[in-house]
Amino acid sequence: MIKTLLSPFKRFAWFKRLNAKITYEWLARHIPANDWQFMNYGYYPNAEEPAIQPEPKPLQLYPLLMYHYLGSKAELAGKVVLEVGSGRGGGAAYLASHFKPAQYTGMDLAQHAVDLANKIHAVPNLKFIQGSAENIPLPDNSVDVVINVESCHAYGSVKKFLSEVKRALKPGGYFLMVDFRYAQDMPELNTLLRESGMSLLQEDNITANVVKAIEAEDEAKQKRIRELVPPKWQKLFAEFAGVVGSKFYRNLNDGTRFYYRYVMQK
Ligand SMILES: C[S@@+](CC[C@H](N)C(=O)[O-])C[C@H]1O[C@@H](n2cnc3c(N)ncnc32)[C@H](O)[C@@H]1O
Repeated sequence: MIKTLLSPFKRFAWFKRLNAKITYEWLARHIPANDWQFMNYGYYPNAEEPAIQPEPKPLQLYPLLMYHYLGSKAELAGKVVLEVGSGRGGGAAYLASHFKPAQYTGMDLAQHAVDLANKIHAVPNLKFIQGSAENIPLPDNSVDVVINVESCHAYGSVKKFLSEVKRALKPGGYFLMVDFRYAQDMPELNTLLRESGMSLLQEDNITANVVKAIEAEDEAKQKRIRELVPPKWQKLFAEFAGVVGSKFYRNLNDGTRFYYRYVMQK
């Protein structure tokens, strides 16, 4: 009922911004679980991609692999890295420890998510700050790599976000991004990326990889939901988390939605 009432507003920029802010502030406040550190749907690597086995085995292996294979697309060692939409910080903590950038800043719109990430991740070269993708609080030409994982679908203006990424990146810097869209919204995203003033070096349809990750993680995810989420919210949360059978999972399978990975350079 509430969903139906709200759906006419979903295309408005102000609604998208408000929706993202309320949702992610609420989640970090009400489910501040230390061991729920990733909020992406996960990535199951292709056979030809070098396999990794992180030790100890992470609770959310496939969401971590989403970061690993995206972060592998550019040199991070010794670099200044900004992540936009870092959420609970699991991906930032992994990339900052594994690839050894000089400095990794995770930025998120939700202050509660930033506070939670600063509390649960103690990595020397890593910090989390509050800020908006549409107004990045960093100087021009100051960042080597911008990372963006499953976040920009929620922004009021992706065009403004891309101009902010370009402004903050040093010449030659990389923009690494993964996200999903409804099929009918893919042409708009493609146009925005191609008109961003950055070069599109690589573009992969990773929908099948995300479907496989959702399936591989499903049992563990359902168990975590039962353990961490109060019973009255479990059904709603399972939809949000994209369990097998959820609308998101069905949409990826029936071609209604796509999940893409992009490598761009300023
Ligand atoms: C699906 S979560 C993904 C979080 C994280 N990247 C991960 O994979 O675990 C999307 C994140 O984007 C953040 N976000 C949404 N709109 C934003 C904006 N305009 N600026 C910065 N962060 C934003 C949300 O607060 C949320 O933490």
